[in-house]
Amino acid sequence: MPQKNIDDSLKVNFDRVKTTLKSLLSDYRYEHTLRVAKESAFLASHYSINSDYAFLAGLIHDAAKELDISQLDLNFTDFHLSLYQSFPAIAHAFVLDVIVPVYFSDVPTIITEAAMWHTTGKADMSDLEKIVFIADFIEPNRTVENRQFIYDLAYQSLDKAVFEIAFFKLNFLLKSRKSIYSKLVDCYNFYSNQV
Ligand SMILES: [Fe+2]
Repeated sequence: MPQKNIDDSLKVNFDRVKTTLKSLLSDYRYEHTLRVAKESAFLASHYSINSDYAFLAGLIHDAAKELDISQLDLNFTDFHLSLYQSFPAIAHAFVLDVIVPVYFSDVPTIITEAAMWHTTGKADMSDLEKIVFIADFIEPNRTVENRQFIYDLAYQSLDKAVFEIAFFKLNFLLKSRKSIYSKLVDCYNFYSNQV
């Protein structure tokens, strides 16, 4: 029997997490998070990783997406604020380290850290980090043309799927002449050497 590589001590009330998420997100975004959570859990099961951890990381990954952090009296750092200035599309992922302990106090740090890399990826991710990064891209309502290709690839190799997503995102940003956060380049470079 395959071993789960994360301990099974998760003590989180999933219904309470969902209720809080509903209060933070539009219906559209909430439904997206449910789909990402399910895809995360399916991928985790396939790779004998704790699917509850993956489901929860998928659930919270966009928790900060619709928050106006300028209206919140929380301990955001200069790093967080500079990301909102320079890379507004991805900043919501990097404030989860502040948001999650406030809104989801029973969610373990390992879950938060897994969700924090869902926009850019990075070099040398854990399997849980890879899974949330991939699940966000392959959830069924994504309309990108290569969704099915990446979906199939994800069940063969997490590393190959991560690389293809990083490649796609870099291409998109370059074609759009948008700025590129360095962690995405790190992700692309690292996984280009793994596949
Ligand atoms: Fe998402």
